Amino acid sequence: MDTQYKHFRSLWDQDPNKKQFPQLTGRHQVDVVIVGGGITGISAAMLLAKAGKKSIVLEQYEVGSGTTGHSTGNLYAPTGQHLTEISAKHNKSVMKQVAQSRLSAMDQIKRWVGEFALSCSYKEVPWHLFSTRETDSATIKDEFDAAEQAGLPAENSVPLTFPFPTDVMLTLRNQAQMNPLQYVQQLAASIDPSFCNIYENSKVLEIGSGSPVEVKTAMGSVTADHVILATHSPIGLFAVQSAMEVKREYAMAVKVKNELPPPAIYWDLHRADQAMFSVRVCENSSGKYLLVLHEQHKTGHGNQKTNFPIETEKYIRSHFDVEQISYIWSAQKYSSVDKLPYIGSSPIQKNCHIATGFAADGLVYGTLAAMIISDQILDNPNDFQHLYKIRVPAMGSLPKFVQHNLHILGDLVADLLTSPESEFSKITPGEGEVIKVEGKHLAVFRSDEDHVYAVSAICPHMGCTVHWNKFEKSWDCPCHGSRFDILGEVLEGPAIKALETVAVNQKLGNRD
Ligand code: FES
Repeated sequence: MDTQYKHFRSLWDQDPNKKQFPQLTGRHQVDVVIVGGGITGISAAMLLAKAGKKSIVLEQYEVGSGTTGHSTGNLYAPTGQHLTEISAKHNKSVMKQVAQSRLSAMDQIKRWVGEFALSCSYKEVPWHLFSTRETDSATIKDEFDAAEQAGLPAENSVPLTFPFPTDVMLTLRNQAQMNPLQYVQQLAASIDPSFCNIYENSKVLEIGSGSPVEVKTAMGSVTADHVILATHSPIGLFAVQSAMEVKREYAMAVKVKNELPPPAIYWDLHRADQAMFSVRVCENSSGKYLLVLHEQHKTGHGNQKTNFPIETEKYIRSHFDVEQISYIWSAQKYSSVDKLPYIGSSPIQKNCHIATGFAADGLVYGTLAAMIISDQILDNPNDFQHLYKIRVPAMGSLPKFVQHNLHILGDLVADLLTSPESEFSKITPGEGEVIKVEGKHLAVFRSDEDHVYAVSAICPHMGCTVHWNKFEKSWDCPCHGSRFDILGEVLEGPAIKALETVAVNQKLGNRD
């Protein structure tokens, strides 16, 4: 199998005219400070600006460069958690409200695309849920019934030229696709700068707990009445972090020799007990591709993977004549125990608003979160705010919640028992290993050139031990999903602080 690929990055092109935003310097005071320049933060900034509130957005890297720019760009009313499962966990009324709330967020995206003439390849397409395995027919039929009960116009006939072999289907028309990176970058550029300033390369280092709240970066600070943590998992310490499962999910974009299927969102359930395959046609400046998403693993367990998402490749090759695997990338997903995101004010700090637990449905949920939180700040009624409010796990969810935390404890114990007392020189070049040295767990990376980078293996968020991610060459925390580069710098929260540096860029055999 040819597993060569050109780029380990998302295929989405930046907006060619992307507006550059400065780094935060100096002291500022606004109504709302928004941490995170992805779809949640930028959408909230747009809504608040339209309502006349002054805000500042602080983005660690560039607008859209986090999870938004690593998503599939699919917009759909149902969820990857399946409507039947939401109904089973809650009830039919909640399932219906989830579908209707997601439709309202999709309408908001469509309105902004029109209002600001966003050039982001937005197009309405059908969404198909099907299975290439007969044994999953009943699940599709149940989803069809659930979609009808949720008020969605479901169809079940299989088109004659459907590109996958199946005889059972649920189709929803008027769902949508776009280039998510260009969407959010252009939306950011469309916000009235007299109401909102966006700062890039402005990593937040400290968030105060007072009211008004003060947020600090390396070069400046912002004081505001409200803070919105639009950072996927809220940075800092929040109870919801322990109620979510965190996974890395891998996508690839391939060139095919045969004709591409018609534009649509294709979800092949494949096996009801595993992650589905999500397929779509997409395009960037170098051509048209098939985007496929499937494989995933718990964050912090990436060392068990081979260096390639093999099942995804096998699947797409079984249906298409693949010319080249052009891009591979990954993104993190946080799933709540009760299958609904957490959106709203923190129960402890009312002026702090969080939005997380979107699972793999974040473009629509991120927009919805912006609508709900901005309504809360503006004191506007919102039909859906009660549905997603920050909650403790319900009794029915408790076993999984406890099990998840036991799993965390298991990770801690396993780390303590199994870390090898080995010399740095035994680490394979190009790989990392957690090594115990004088009672301290060190996360040690050895480069191909025999340079050693040793940082503390203890995650500064809550003290779990990080694990090596073989595929992405990062240190990932299995507890709540923080990720760090080989220098220990934070790639992804909830950790705010870096892993403590022990020895960086020292040549093996030449160490002081
Ligand atoms: Fe919470 Fe590491 S992310 S302890």
